[in-house]
Amino acid sequence: MSRILWGGATSASQYEGGFTDGKGMDTQDCRPYIPRTSNATTETRLLTQKVIDEAKDPNSSRYYPFRVGTKGYEYGLTDIDLLEELGVDIYRLSISWSRLFPTGEEEEPNAKGVAYYDAILQKLHAAGIKIFLTINHYALPLSIVEKYRGWTNRKTIDVFVHFAKFVFKKWGNIVDYWLPFNEINAGYFSPYNGVGLVKPEDADYSYDDVFRSLHYQFVANARTIQAARKMGVPGKFGAMVACFCYYPLTPSPEDNLELVRDEEVNQWYCMDILAKGKYPYYAQPFFDKHHVTFEITEEDRKVLKENTVDFVSFSYYSSSICTVKENSTQTAGNLVVTTKNPYLKATEWGWQIDPIGLRTTLHKVYDRYEKPVIISENGLGARDQLEANGAVHDPYRIEYFKEHFKQIIAAKNEGVDVRAYMAWGIIDIVSAGSCEMDKRYGVIYVDADNDGHGTYKRYKKDSFNWYHNFILEQRAKG
Ligand code: BG6
Repeated sequence: MSRILWGGATSASQYEGGFTDGKGMDTQDCRPYIPRTSNATTETRLLTQKVIDEAKDPNSSRYYPFRVGTKGYEYGLTDIDLLEELGVDIYRLSISWSRLFPTGEEEEPNAKGVAYYDAILQKLHAAGIKIFLTINHYALPLSIVEKYRGWTNRKTIDVFVHFAKFVFKKWGNIVDYWLPFNEINAGYFSPYNGVGLVKPEDADYSYDDVFRSLHYQFVANARTIQAARKMGVPGKFGAMVACFCYYPLTPSPEDNLELVRDEEVNQWYCMDILAKGKYPYYAQPFFDKHHVTFEITEEDRKVLKENTVDFVSFSYYSSSICTVKENSTQTAGNLVVTTKNPYLKATEWGWQIDPIGLRTTLHKVYDRYEKPVIISENGLGARDQLEANGAVHDPYRIEYFKEHFKQIIAAKNEGVDVRAYMAWGIIDIVSAGSCEMDKRYGVIYVDADNDGHGTYKRYKKDSFNWYHNFILEQRAKG
């Protein structure tokens, strides 16, 4: 078995900024920063038309952090020098759809956007860093949301495939791993981020909208793979879900059954379809129960069947608990709120730290799909302090890495075909969940605060040196 590739990851909207040079507005550009200490209403976090209208108003007084990111659009090339110095084998990044195609529907791409990605991707390639490219990490051109209601419209498939084909034509020969969609199950937990759904003012999202949108993303995923294979693109294609490593709260049969249901719908549903090429047995009963009525055509079934993924990948930050009890103590996690686990410590943001859960997840994913596995996101979101001498001491992050890496290596030694690990937000980026800078994942510190103040200069944290040495040791072991 080949050795694990060790790397890092970012996403365009959280990293680049560069709300300029012809970039179109996208869904992330509409999300304002709201201090956690204020009585921020869920209204502004859930993205209604009212919030979008305010974001489009040039006189809006709010700060929109994704328009600035951590200025990767400006620092991209020198950041790659830092990644080279760090010694990563692989780097995951995403393309901003609206930087290349401002409304999504232009025939020809924005030349300045093409030049930016060309410089970045060619430099990574020349540095010998393997490229893991997410074609779409959450941000959807706003025009597609307003014109087509995001992914609820079949037309969005064609628009996406047009974008993907351009990316293949231009960079198809240098990308090693492809991911059409980040955390595709986010469409279910976070419909605005995942599938570009605007929340109705006085109602919840409809299940039909959510599952219809997801279906069109599945078809888009398959048609993207189909197009790439026809074009002779050599890289491997994958799908990614957010994984939660579920435990039953108690050994009661009811809690355990609840776990099976949560795993099926929340965690495996999308991957079952993209890796196995067909809807799973539990889908139709779930649709019947929730009045989901979208049509799956024979052509859809065929394209899904014939274009399954080469590898499976997932993000993993914390584990979750399933229970039928209604009054358990809650805590936050990636995309979900769950029950507190008394055996685990949690971050300041409430995400429960569970390295063994990562090993368990690796086993479960490999057993279910029998395809190479890539951990496309993992890491510790923590508050860091930049010292006057430019140092950042983050022993907590080193500890987190140590414990998680031990479990990954154990899973590999137990037979799981783990191919790569990517530390999330390797260079500090804006938090996708809370739009903050305070919640940092990187081994490279970016001097910026929640309001966009700061020099945006880069500093190496203690974890930079630790990760560098770890990668060298692993490489030497072969
Ligand atoms: C994943 C997303 O869900 O979690 C990332 O793919 C995100 O975009 C990451 O940044 C961590 O979440 P947060 O809210 O801490 O940024």
